[in-house]
Amino acid sequence: MEDLGVAVVGFGWMGRVHTRAYARLPHHYPRLPLRPRLIAVADEVPGRAEEAAGQFGFATATRDWREVAADPQVRAVSVTAPNFLHRRIGVAMAEAGKHLWIEKPVGLSAGDARAVADAVARAGVQGTVGFNYRNAPAVEKARELIAAGGIGTVTHVRIRLFSDYAAHPDSALTWRYERERGGSGVLGDLASHGADLARFLLGDITALTADTAVFVPERARPTGATAGHTRTGGGERGPVENEDYVSCLLRFASGARGVLEACRVSVGEQNSYGFEVHGTSGAVFWDFRRMNELAVSRGTSFQDQPVSTVYVGPGDGEFAAFQPGAGNAMGYDDLKVIEAHRFLRSIAEGTPYGATLADAARGAVVLDAMAESAVSGKWIDL
Ligand SMILES: NC(=O)c1ccc[n+]([C@@H]2O[C@H](COP(=O)([O-])OP(=O)(O)OC[C@H]3O[C@@H](n4cnc5c(N)ncnc54)[C@H](O)[C@@H]3O)[C@@H](O)[C@H]2O)c1
Repeated sequence: MEDLGVAVVGFGWMGRVHTRAYARLPHHYPRLPLRPRLIAVADEVPGRAEEAAGQFGFATATRDWREVAADPQVRAVSVTAPNFLHRRIGVAMAEAGKHLWIEKPVGLSAGDARAVADAVARAGVQGTVGFNYRNAPAVEKARELIAAGGIGTVTHVRIRLFSDYAAHPDSALTWRYERERGGSGVLGDLASHGADLARFLLGDITALTADTAVFVPERARPTGATAGHTRTGGGERGPVENEDYVSCLLRFASGARGVLEACRVSVGEQNSYGFEVHGTSGAVFWDFRRMNELAVSRGTSFQDQPVSTVYVGPGDGEFAAFQPGAGNAMGYDDLKVIEAHRFLRSIAEGTPYGATLADAARGAVVLDAMAESAVSGKWIDL
């Protein structure tokens, strides 16, 4: 077992989740030849990195991510800072020879995602991206079922990502709502997961048309440092610069059709993410809130064909690394432990596992096309 020096840049929600995943890796994957050692944490908010070091045991804490890039003990870096920093930090870390675990959407545009993907390829380092929903054992099982023809020929899919995280009118105007620091709104946030799931389950998307809307046009600025989805303390009001909502029609290379809808201001919807994939002889349904279940309809009845609930178990995806039998629940953080495992396995074996920067770059092209179509009102060929 060899130690691998790791660092985390940006210690908000995702920084914590990545750190917990590194810490838990040896518990779930004792045969992994690399053991993460928490070397450095960086966050620009005064005191936040020191607090993280105290709580999680990082050897050093800094406000300047450039110190992380220059630290020879750091061999792998989690980039969990806001979107506008992904390109700058991602490219710099790759050029410094660090392996990269970077959060979606990887920058503000397809150009940014491509730049990070190119830097990683040039440097010969590994790059893993935070498309965690594809790591759910039930999602992997659905993919296998679809690929094996278990529901016949896929005809159409519906993918939804509804959340209420920005529904409260007092939800603060953080970096997420600004073009300069967040880029797009729900497109880069929730819809980026949806585009990845669409590609993961059904393959390449060849054309799309989309519509977007802003439903909460103004919010109050935060009055102090923020992390996650903070409520405002009553700062000055400013405009929401990116979309709250997107709906999109998709065409796949296979001929299948799809609908993707995402919204961050859906009252009554908490992490309501999922898909319904339909084929000529069956269907498969997944809901993130019942992450370890699939609803499956298979057979030769066509009409009135029953739907069964299938609980994933030790034979499905990475389930066996977490629970001994079906019906024992895995949770959100476990998806990040799986992602961390795929990242370190990529480093150990010199070959990629899981979602890569090429996936992020292709997904970002889909998102940019949605934004373009929402303006032009036209179908866009990809
Ligand atoms: N995969 C997922 O399910 C998922 C979920 C949420 C967020 N994300 C992604 O993770 C990233 C971070 O999101 P979050 O929710 O953790 O945001 P957050 O606002 O909670 O945290 C961001 C952190 O970055 C820090 N930061 C800002 N500028 C910095 C700089 N120059 N140097 C170092 N640190 C800096 C902030 O102080 C903050 O602590 C985003 O790109 C987001 O799209 C992914």
